[in-house]
Amino acid sequence: MKSTQRAKTLARAAAIVAVFLCATVLPHPANAETGADAWLRYSPLSPQAAKNYERLPPQIVLLGDSPVLKTAQQELIQGVGQMLGRTLHVGIASSRNAIVLGTLTELPALIPELHPPQDLRPDGYWLKSTKFRGSECLIITASTDRGVLYGVFALLSKIARAESLADIDIATLDELQNPYAPIRWVNQWDNLDGRIERGYGGPSIFFVDGNVRADLTRAGQYARLLASIGINGCAINNVNAAPGVLEDSFIAQVSRIADVFRPWGVQLSLAVDLGSPKLIGGLDTFDPLDPRVAEWWRKKVDEIYRRIPDFAGFVVKADSEGRLGPSTYGRTHADAANVIARALKPHGGVIFYRAFVYNHHLDWHDLKSDRAKAAYENFHPLDGAFDDNVIVQIKNGPIDFQVREPVSPLFARLGRTNEAIELQITQEYTGQQRQLCFLVPMWKEALDFDMHIDANIADVNTTPVKALVAGRILHRPVGGFVGVTNVGMDATWLGSPLAMANLYGFGRLAWDPNLTAEKIIDEWTRLTFGNDPLVVKAITTMQLNSWHIYESYTGPLGAGTLTNILGNHYDPSPESSEENGWGQWHRADHAGIGMDRTIATGTGFIGQYPPAVQQLYESLARSPDNLLLFFHHVPYTYVLRSGKTVVQHIYDSHYDGADRARDFISQWKSLEGHVDNERYRDILTRFEYQAAEAIVWRDAICDWIYKLSGIPDSKGRFPTRLSH
Ligand code: GCU
Repeated sequence: MKSTQRAKTLARAAAIVAVFLCATVLPHPANAETGADAWLRYSPLSPQAAKNYERLPPQIVLLGDSPVLKTAQQELIQGVGQMLGRTLHVGIASSRNAIVLGTLTELPALIPELHPPQDLRPDGYWLKSTKFRGSECLIITASTDRGVLYGVFALLSKIARAESLADIDIATLDELQNPYAPIRWVNQWDNLDGRIERGYGGPSIFFVDGNVRADLTRAGQYARLLASIGINGCAINNVNAAPGVLEDSFIAQVSRIADVFRPWGVQLSLAVDLGSPKLIGGLDTFDPLDPRVAEWWRKKVDEIYRRIPDFAGFVVKADSEGRLGPSTYGRTHADAANVIARALKPHGGVIFYRAFVYNHHLDWHDLKSDRAKAAYENFHPLDGAFDDNVIVQIKNGPIDFQVREPVSPLFARLGRTNEAIELQITQEYTGQQRQLCFLVPMWKEALDFDMHIDANIADVNTTPVKALVAGRILHRPVGGFVGVTNVGMDATWLGSPLAMANLYGFGRLAWDPNLTAEKIIDEWTRLTFGNDPLVVKAITTMQLNSWHIYESYTGPLGAGTLTNILGNHYDPSPESSEENGWGQWHRADHAGIGMDRTIATGTGFIGQYPPAVQQLYESLARSPDNLLLFFHHVPYTYVLRSGKTVVQHIYDSHYDGADRARDFISQWKSLEGHVDNERYRDILTRFEYQAAEAIVWRDAICDWIYKLSGIPDSKGRFPTRLSH
């Protein structure tokens, strides 16, 4: 039996005891909830809180009749009805004392004296209280229908979070909100047979057995959730795309999904296989520079727009993990992206071309070889070669959604290329929704990281430049955020009610990356569980601590998630990273641990960053502890800034993390009777499970590190009897 397996057996036994000791006293039944409404529950406010909205006008005037505007009206009626117990009546343009919904095109004819802010951008909205015909009106306006819908959701969110009531006087409301980035998309990795790659919330809401589902109710409900957080696009199928998605007969089916998205202002997109012209198109080539290939894409795209006039565009994964790509013909990624972009251009479509390109047959004997370098090496030489409707989609870190990675250096080095940051909402390497891991604090670290972009880069015209948050790069001329979501048919969408905070948080950050994690989780908690201060305090604290806790018992000091990378990406299996071509190496041996990525002696990856960042990471003394093993190979006895040795840190952090995961149980139990019975029980079971899994992880990693280093824990916890 391998050492980690033995430790796992021991740990699972201990974990069962731990869970038994935590045996639950079930709470009294209260209102049962499935989690399906997520943050759009519109629970009735207390009479006291509802009083603050007494002056909300009693009727709605809708200027226009587009599907999105009608949705906005309907949503407002529903939300106000449920939360305030009031029925909003639909009035006519001359109605007094109304909530007016309409775009800037319609509004001036009704209220010429109103002067909307000049800087209202597409999808932004303005909530404005004003006097009109001698009565109080509330205006929800925008330059687009979608912006009006977002304004309605914003108002309903304010009402639901009674916390804000003190700040809102409905009579003086004057709030302008613009989205930070024009493109705010999610990607689903759904296969046409209904399974979802790295999906943990049940089967696809779009597909079953090779076809689009007959009943698309859930797809419509998903679009509503997305719209409520400002998401305006959704790629519905796996980036490892089935070529058949572009068959004409399939596009006809897909158009039904676009139909249920449309009333919510969510535009549909497809992931496509670059080999399609050959695989399904009857050509003998997919060479992007062959005119027949260009013509094939043009006709295919025209056909799509004939059926889906608001089609958003494509996502492409090429030359990566076995996918076909331009290398087959010696062409570049720009050649591949541009041939498709030119077909989309006349229709206003865009193509997201993924920078997740690397060789997964790397030579692990070669200490200079490094998967982290791949995105930059592939795309930096092409800066400026992409058409203006191509967006290079870059994962936040240079490897693959690990529990901690530095920011991809590529963000700093594509000054003349549109970029989007790809974040993973589905918790592939971070507990797969079975363990709590609120990812917004992790994403914030990436977004807030100061990349010290030099002033020469085109379109970056402010200094100092915080590359991503200040990220003018995301604006040129399109760009933004992509979240890999993978919701499924499970009532809770992602498979766990608490995991939905990550989807909510993604949308809010895409709208405004300067929001804090604290603000986002406060909003989400109030919307999802109500405004009871005890509940808000407990859940926000647990969520905010959860990433560090998960990191503590899984992947230490930037080594990455020490999981089974050849299998489920879930269980502990640090050995699986080594001695294979996938390149998720941590180079642990008997003498030390960590990847040497320095310029001086290592793979040279650090050289891909701007000089100021290079200086930070190249120096062992300046490198932050939490990324030490990502950048440096050190002996186990190396002393961290904390004063601890690396090996002792690993023991301590794993014990501490497992203890803190166990503490989630008692923290959750403090909410008994304050949370509806159904979610209370469900979540309690999850925390009990997580506590057990954390022990499994703790012992597996400590056992492994002891076996490698031969250095016992100074606190006497390792070696255990079984470790010998
Ligand atoms: C990860 C993930 C794959 C996915 C890939 C991608 O490697 O495990 O399932 O296809 O990322 O982002 O393309």
